[in-house]
Amino acid sequence: MTRHLLRDDDLTPAEQAEILDLAAAMKKDPFGEGLGKPLAGPHTVAMIFDKATLRTQASFTAGIAELGGQPLLVDGNLAGIGKRESVADVARVLGRQVSQIVWRTYHQSDLETMAELSGVPVVNALTDDFHPCQLLADLLTITERRGSLAGLTVTFLGDGACNMGNSWLLAGALAGMHVRISAPEGYLPARAVWDRAAEIAATTGGSVAADPDPVAAVSGVDVVVTDTWVSMGKEDEAAARRAVFTPYAVTAELLSAAAEDAIVLHCLPAYRGMEIAAEVIDGPQSVVWDEAENRRHAQKAVMAWLHERRGR
Ligand code: CP
Repeated sequence: MTRHLLRDDDLTPAEQAEILDLAAAMKKDPFGEGLGKPLAGPHTVAMIFDKATLRTQASFTAGIAELGGQPLLVDGNLAGIGKRESVADVARVLGRQVSQIVWRTYHQSDLETMAELSGVPVVNALTDDFHPCQLLADLLTITERRGSLAGLTVTFLGDGACNMGNSWLLAGALAGMHVRISAPEGYLPARAVWDRAAEIAATTGGSVAADPDPVAAVSGVDVVVTDTWVSMGKEDEAAARRAVFTPYAVTAELLSAAAEDAIVLHCLPAYRGMEIAAEVIDGPQSVVWDEAENRRHAQKAVMAWLHERRGR
């Protein structure tokens, strides 16, 4: 059966670890001198973007080339997926042209349709609900700094109801981490995601918890994570969101409550003076540039791993 990465828990804990190990190996050998080029041929990988991007487009494009493949950029607006043509028909057409499909879009259900009907591996490059490629890059970055993941405590602050909050719950639980979400009332991940993450954590030794008090939530933690308060599509709510999220800003004072050697992650783009202070993101505990680079290594591992399992 063809495998996909549509949400973080499409991987088992062992598979997540396998992909992270492969990503680390690929980072050491970026041009495949020893590991080879699994997309040589070249196999074409379609990248469709219905939302803005910098990191995702750049890292997939470079990563596909490093794997020996051919990136095909599809402008979502030009293709008019779901408007000019149904998702189902696009899936049937694209699946006959390319070896994998990477898609950044709005609805998780559309991504599922693409996976069901294209016949090729489909990778979630961000939906309203999940951002699994970002999480693999984040976990790779933490592993580089801490050596392992299981047992570490991580706090995600801000809009816990966004794709990053959901993905942190699932991916952190898979890795055996203790994941805390610190968000105001009404901004926690959906119940179904909590329940699924708790179920996973019970098997990995991790845990998931919510704490609306940002200082208590970061107290002694190993990793502090935040994201923009105004996710793509929420621009009309910007003023209201700033008001409610201000206590959750990652300032130097808040960070001082975390472990002395805590590291700070932000998937970017960042808004200094809003969700994160300039002195924090540009300070010694920030690992955001490694995190951004690691998108390429993590996604290369995902594409190689899925390619090996295509049509099985
Ligand atoms: N973090 C992330 O997904 O970046 P882009 O939106 O720039 O792709």
